[in-house]
Amino acid sequence: MENKEKVKQLIELRAQAKLGGGQKRIDSQHSKGKFTARERIDMLLDEGSFEELDMFVTHRCTNFGLEKEKYLGDGVVIGHGTIDGRSVYVFAQDFTVFGGSLSETMALKICKVMDLAMKMGAPIIGINDSGGARIQEGVTALAGYAEIFERNILASGVIPQISAIFGPCAGGAVYSPALTDFILMTEENSYMFVTGPKVVKSVTGETISTEDLGGAGMHSSKSGVSHFRVDNEEAGIAKIRDLISYLPQNNLEEAPMIECNDPIDRLDDALNSIVPDNPNMPYDMKNVIHAIADNGEFLEVHEGYARNIIVGFARFNGQSTGIVANQPAFLAGVLDCDSSRKAARFIRFCDAFNIPILTLVDVPGFLPGSGQEYAGIITHGAKLMFAYGEATVPKVTVTLRKSYGGAHCVMSSKQLRGDFNYAWPTAEIAVMGAAGAIEVLEGRAISKIEDPEAKAQYVAEKTNEYKDKFANPYMAASYGYIDDVIEPRNTRFRVIRAFQALQTKKQTNPLKKHSNIPL
Ligand code: HXC
Repeated sequence: MENKEKVKQLIELRAQAKLGGGQKRIDSQHSKGKFTARERIDMLLDEGSFEELDMFVTHRCTNFGLEKEKYLGDGVVIGHGTIDGRSVYVFAQDFTVFGGSLSETMALKICKVMDLAMKMGAPIIGINDSGGARIQEGVTALAGYAEIFERNILASGVIPQISAIFGPCAGGAVYSPALTDFILMTEENSYMFVTGPKVVKSVTGETISTEDLGGAGMHSSKSGVSHFRVDNEEAGIAKIRDLISYLPQNNLEEAPMIECNDPIDRLDDALNSIVPDNPNMPYDMKNVIHAIADNGEFLEVHEGYARNIIVGFARFNGQSTGIVANQPAFLAGVLDCDSSRKAARFIRFCDAFNIPILTLVDVPGFLPGSGQEYAGIITHGAKLMFAYGEATVPKVTVTLRKSYGGAHCVMSSKQLRGDFNYAWPTAEIAVMGAAGAIEVLEGRAISKIEDPEAKAQYVAEKTNEYKDKFANPYMAASYGYIDDVIEPRNTRFRVIRAFQALQTKKQTNPLKKHSNIPL
């Protein structure tokens, strides 16, 4: 073959590889409203930045006549490129080749790109669209999955790992995304389950749709498996690019600083009256977040799951910051099993990747009742406590209103190594709310009063006495548990100042193999 012919051959082979499983299957993918693996990567990365690797890899399976059916690339596209100029590594399963099913060689390709991401200290993004283990291959496919899982585990806390689910993700295949930091699902076509509806029906008799069993709606509200729920793939890709902008490349770096055009001393008068006079009235904590963050921008994580706590990323003077905030507008902002787990995982992510944490507190306590106790609120609440207490990143806390009992200790209190703990004048820091306290302290005295009017008056007097003493931030401030009581409208400035002061913070935990967080 002449050299000219060799170049022509290369060009033809590349064109062939780019067709994956063929035009017919690409058309079928499009007809379902899905993009192909390469189209997805092109949308995700900066234009022209993608460098593909292993385009000529084919499978080695000879079972069931598979040796006669080979496709260049073998069901996954891997490589690296940039997002806003920053390096990332990617793999995207190609459903047009054996339904994106995982073969031995596909696993080798995914492992290769994961190893490169680790070596280079850059985020890895996986786009999942697969029928699971390649059935014809059997155990080599299973071994391939386990190789990927091990890499997910070792990369955890070293480089950010993001999983987009743009198609099926079933069986043991779910565990690779589950081991990553963030999972994103689209409204349609995206589902995750350990066993599908047919197996569920045959084993348990339960009839359930794919959507109800493992769709984006379910995983973003009930199970919490999915962190982001988006309308379609384009929105998902945009979300991933946005998320990456808040993250460092790896655990030894800081998140990029973005130039801040929002004045750091911007006052927001509305904050002075955002907390209602009636302590039982809700308000939307998201309004507070938008009011204090740079340009009002907030990337919420787990938006539809455990809505009594809010977590997500914002910037303060251009610095990426994790926000954890009780949400009085949902279940009064109470802490329960789900909200504790949700916040704990987010805090640990921030701590692993050097992202400071701002905590906004308005919490009436832990949710009481047998439901929560049976579900293990003790262990789950301990996770949140553990995550805060273990975190060594800068931690700034602002208590807006209620901060009662164990929940007070948990929510980044001074004693859990909160660096700067501020309170609004509306803060109430106590063992419990006034009504509950008076019932416990004065129950016997109250029961002895026969006249209803006198009884009511006595209760009101004692309640007011309690409120005067505890329903304010000054008792805590008198002990130094609160560093300062701040004017609400000045919160943005005080928070920015605090994080600026904390930029040189150095804190380490005792040497150990690893901690034993109450899982
Ligand atoms: C080999 C597969 C495949 C698989 C799909 N295909 N899944 N080939 N191994 N696992 C092929 C099909 O034969 C078909 O080939 C093409 O991919 C598209 O599949 P369709 O069924 O036509 O597509 P669709 O109707 O969209 O259905 C998608 C699907 C279905 C729901 C994913 O294909 C399916 O149920 N597949 C099997 C899923 C499964 O049971 N996997 C094993 C799970 S156990 P042609 O040539 O027609 O285009 C597992 C263990 C992992 O994964 C353990 C890890 C520890």
